[in-house]
Amino acid sequence: ARTGIELRPGLDGVPATQSAICDIDGEQGLLTYRGYPMQDLAANSSFLETAFLLIWGELPSRDQLAEFEHAVQMHRRVSFRVRDMMKCFPASGHPMDALQSSAASLGLFYSRRAIDDPQYVYDAVVRLIAKIPTMVAAFQLIRKGQDPIQPRDDLAYSANFLYMLTEREPDPLAARIFDRCLMLHAEHSLNASTFSARVTASTLTDPYAVVASAVGTLAGPLHGGANEDVLAMLEEVGTAENAGAYLDEAMAAKRKIMGFGHREYKVKDPRAVILQALVEEMFARFGHDELYDVAVAIEREAESRLGPKGIYPNVDFYSGLVYRKLGIPRDLFTPVFAIARVAGWLAHWREQLGANRIFRPSQIYSGSQLRAWMPIDERV
Ligand code: SDX
Repeated sequence: ARTGIELRPGLDGVPATQSAICDIDGEQGLLTYRGYPMQDLAANSSFLETAFLLIWGELPSRDQLAEFEHAVQMHRRVSFRVRDMMKCFPASGHPMDALQSSAASLGLFYSRRAIDDPQYVYDAVVRLIAKIPTMVAAFQLIRKGQDPIQPRDDLAYSANFLYMLTEREPDPLAARIFDRCLMLHAEHSLNASTFSARVTASTLTDPYAVVASAVGTLAGPLHGGANEDVLAMLEEVGTAENAGAYLDEAMAAKRKIMGFGHREYKVKDPRAVILQALVEEMFARFGHDELYDVAVAIEREAESRLGPKGIYPNVDFYSGLVYRKLGIPRDLFTPVFAIARVAGWLAHWREQLGANRIFRPSQIYSGSQLRAWMPIDERV
């Protein structure tokens, strides 16, 4: 074992890279993208403008934003070859497996030209941000036995995704709220899927493989999918009155409360604060959902039980209530997380190209010491 370097499981607290993209103050509950507070972006920006900021480091000029939005709009369509491949996927397949396969397949269509060519980087960013929503929506229609519908160029990014997914043009407020959800989920420093993206990017492979690697990592239940589990929990609790008893029973059984806790935040996740306001805006306009009353009761009852341990709602606690009201199927919540997080993954891909150092950490060996070969007849 190498002396002086102790093992840090999960790399807890180990700075594995230097990055200028996102900063989290877990004590104050502050989240900034390239120095801009999340609250300001959620109030004033759009997902595409925020994606541009994350990837290229500055808010775009009016012309830069118009050109980026137009480029994304022109690249929304996915080749019939990918759509035909998706028709071979079993309808019962996990949506994140479908997204990982279809995202990786994009790499078959675009050459691995010199990735230090800014035009290649721009084109890859545009294609991935433009095509991932189309693939998620296509998967939904295909598994229902229908042909996917083509993007509508007259609809903005978020409205077009909801249209392709639900076959109905969304209410402008619903589209605006969804666009804010994408901004809130776009980036979060070195979470597991972004770390996967950086390790993969460090070998200088193509960006489609980088995103496929990150999608596979996000698919794990400890990272993506907690917002699905939150809705299941709210349905199990049933009424606000049951919240306290539910928490007592779960904690006695040492079960983790889904949508609570975070490696970084020791206060309520600032994204949960904003998402809760979006939930209330949704329900004021489109009708109440009694599961929200249960969620508020769970949060209230958890304050005394988990608050002292620094465990508060995270980004997943309220997001599922928004997506449910938007008519997004529950098992597509994590693919929606991926639609947003691809902006962060691509920002880290681009930053890693500049770092130009392959990840190759060491280990502490704990296996067998040197030993002689054993012929098979002598083995027990
Ligand atoms: C995301 O990294 C990111 O930034 C992720 C993310 C992003 O934007 O990319 O924010 C997105 O993944 C949000 C998290 C979604 N997952 C969940 O909501 C699942 C439930 N949460 C827990 O699994 C947990 O809180 C984690 C995984 C989020 C964080 O786990 P940690 O930091 O490794 O904390 P831990 O497991 O070491 O727990 C520390 C203590 C333990 O108690 P003790 O053993 O010390 O007595 O806190 C307890 C845990 O039991 N604890 C919880 C709890 N989370 C931690 N107890 C009850 N309920 C919980 N949710």
